[in-house]
Amino acid sequence: MSSPIERSLVLIKPDAVRRGLIGELLARFERKGLVVDALEMRTMDAALAAEHYADHVDKPFYPPLKEFMTGGPLVALVLSGDQVIEVVRAMLGATDGRKAAAGTIRGDFSLSNRENLVHASDSPESAARELALWFPKL
Ligand code: TYD
Repeated sequence: MSSPIERSLVLIKPDAVRRGLIGELLARFERKGLVVDALEMRTMDAALAAEHYADHVDKPFYPPLKEFMTGGPLVALVLSGDQVIEVVRAMLGATDGRKAAAGTIRGDFSLSNRENLVHASDSPESAARELALWFPKL
């Protein structure tokens, strides 16, 4: 029996947009065989940031994270494919770009624990929550 195709909510963060990496990052996802089901340039406001990062709002790193994530446009994507949630997380690498393995997106392009280029849902539960938050009509 084949499993249903999964979806993940992916954000190309403001640092990646500023650095002109939208095309590079989309190309990586497309080359992997993932499908772009939705794509929209958006700017997060404080309310959306607090909902998106509901697990982190009380952490000491949240205020600078909010400044960063609301500080410029980002590209919100819905990607689909076989085991897309796990596949995209592996493509991102570790949260801290200084520790992420070479060959991963963060390992190749980031030297930061905050400005790490891409967000991706980390479980089916967070994907369902984040997809409803960013693309309620999909
Ligand atoms: P987290 O969910 O732990 O990482 P990931 O993005 O790999 O799922 O954290 C969410 C974001 O919060 C992370 O991408 C960058 C930011 N962050 C910091 O700014 N400082 C920190 O110490 C951590 C752990 C995260």
